[in-house]
Amino acid sequence: MITANELRQKYLKFFESKGHAIIPSAPLVPENDSTVLFTTAGMHPLVPYLMGEKHPMGKRLADVQKCVRTGDIDEVGDPTHHTFFEMLGNWSLGDYFKEESITMSWEFLTSKEWLGLDKNRIAVSVFAGDKDAPFDEGSFEIWKNIGMSESRIAKLPKKNNWWGPAGETGPCGADTEIFYWVGDAEKVPDSFNDDNDLWVEIWNNVFMEYNKKKDGAYEKIAQQNVDTGMGLERILAAVNGFSDNYKTELFWPIIQKIEELTKFKYGEKSDSEHIKDDGQCWVDTRKSMRIVADHIKAAVFMITDGVEPSNTERGYVLRRLIRRAVRQGYKLGIKNNFTAEIAKIVQDLCKETYPEVLNENVLVELQKEENNFRKTLERGLVKIDKYLSNPEGNFFYEKKGDEMGKRQLYFNTDATELIFDLYQTEGFPLEMTLEELKRTGVSFDENKLKERFNELLKKHQDLSRTASAGMFKGGLADTKEETTQLHTVAHLMLAGLRKTLGEHVHQKGSNINGERVRFDFSHPEKMTDEQKQAVEKYVNEAIEAKVDVALEEMSLDEAREKGAEGAFENKYGDVVKVFTIEGFSREICGGPHVKNTGDIKGKFKIKKEESSSAGVRRIKAVLE
Ligand code: ALA
Repeated sequence: MITANELRQKYLKFFESKGHAIIPSAPLVPENDSTVLFTTAGMHPLVPYLMGEKHPMGKRLADVQKCVRTGDIDEVGDPTHHTFFEMLGNWSLGDYFKEESITMSWEFLTSKEWLGLDKNRIAVSVFAGDKDAPFDEGSFEIWKNIGMSESRIAKLPKKNNWWGPAGETGPCGADTEIFYWVGDAEKVPDSFNDDNDLWVEIWNNVFMEYNKKKDGAYEKIAQQNVDTGMGLERILAAVNGFSDNYKTELFWPIIQKIEELTKFKYGEKSDSEHIKDDGQCWVDTRKSMRIVADHIKAAVFMITDGVEPSNTERGYVLRRLIRRAVRQGYKLGIKNNFTAEIAKIVQDLCKETYPEVLNENVLVELQKEENNFRKTLERGLVKIDKYLSNPEGNFFYEKKGDEMGKRQLYFNTDATELIFDLYQTEGFPLEMTLEELKRTGVSFDENKLKERFNELLKKHQDLSRTASAGMFKGGLADTKEETTQLHTVAHLMLAGLRKTLGEHVHQKGSNINGERVRFDFSHPEKMTDEQKQAVEKYVNEAIEAKVDVALEEMSLDEAREKGAEGAFENKYGDVVKVFTIEGFSREICGGPHVKNTGDIKGKFKIKKEESSSAGVRRIKAVLE
């Protein structure tokens, strides 16, 4: 049995031996990038370097990156999909290309010195080619030369074998994917079949040589890059002979805790009376336990990196995950708060590799969210049941031969209103309600329902916006503009903190939305009221002084010489952007910022100052 940590280390050591520099995991919430909600792959923080900027650590990099992907949320519950996962990745920034990349992956996977996986259980796929880019003959030939039989090299379209960009635009390219057979060793099929779940994708090598532009066109970029990603959870399962990721040490202690809380065994069919899954009085305990384990683990990492449950963007993703987990727990018969109990196990499991998970907000936020939702969960379920058991106008039954067909949900009924009411009054995420409807066997046009839900939501938001616009004059500034103002405020605040508390203060993280700035910084103790006032005064004086915010590009060394402050040193290239607010602040940063501090509207106020983790304090501040 190889442990997760041994595997992480092995991977990094292998690529180190091949001349790669090891870089740290970036936070889950991308910095200075509002185009995506979460870091979805190891390449994400590296986009500028894939596009040609010079990376200070060189052209060969490797890391283990924390990722969140919610696109796969419906698959979670099966043995191999997760919302949070760790990605082992290696990159060539205009250095090696297909041949070396594929050869290294093959060596790491199959050499006895490294993972020593059975070659006969491995198959691959390559890009078949289309109007945008040709068939990836290069990869096809390399695999053949390595000894892969042609029947095990599938040629697949863009949908399968093209990766990126991570957002709407950016670097992307054809990829070759490596699959591992997790079924019986004696039954490995001769050819690869994309539909067979026993072929599990373990590694993806992307050959990034295109940039997707806003108009949808693909243009070749100057640099030929390699971007690879291997899911730690999957490869750990494969190496240890599991076909279920949840059996690995990354999840098993969490599952055991859920077993203890529910008194069900993982995989046992339950017929407990408190579980009512319409008609069928059982739940798939394995699926429910996997969802709870996955979602709470993801929630722990998201809260750690600064996300709080809310009704917008990242906060809503987090809220959905927690609420879905509570719902699954309820299905399993858990009637009391339990998410914090599970989270403690996650913290224990992960603290060695990711000490930041001990962040004290984790348990607090989970408790809060669970309390809120639990109050309305039962009421919401009763509403759904009531709606579904009232056949008057809501359903008709379609007869198919002798069998009763599926119940069809009528659209001329108030289904959308029910869904909207559940969202608005009981806090049911849209997709959770849809799942509840599906579980009872009714069928409906999901897209249509979603469309109508969004119409209602928009109408509702417009109404409340008009109401508040009437009440607070001028309360409708562009949120983007406000975010930019708060970016500049964050610089002034850091400078003010360093002046008031000392030079040991550095930025440890930040999160800004149109309403407030949340800012983590190194400092060992609680700030006094006087200190907070001093920082407020510093920032407000800078705002009142109407100073220009000057942008210069210079080398990192030059920036340091000039005393520029910069929090995340190793992510910068040779040339950095320095924003100077003369007399107040000088900081390395990607922007955006206001042109003059006089553009900052309102008075700066610290709303809260609290501990974030050991030696790190957190401030929430606003412009009033
Ligand atoms: N960026 C590639 C992926 O996420 C490696 O699959």
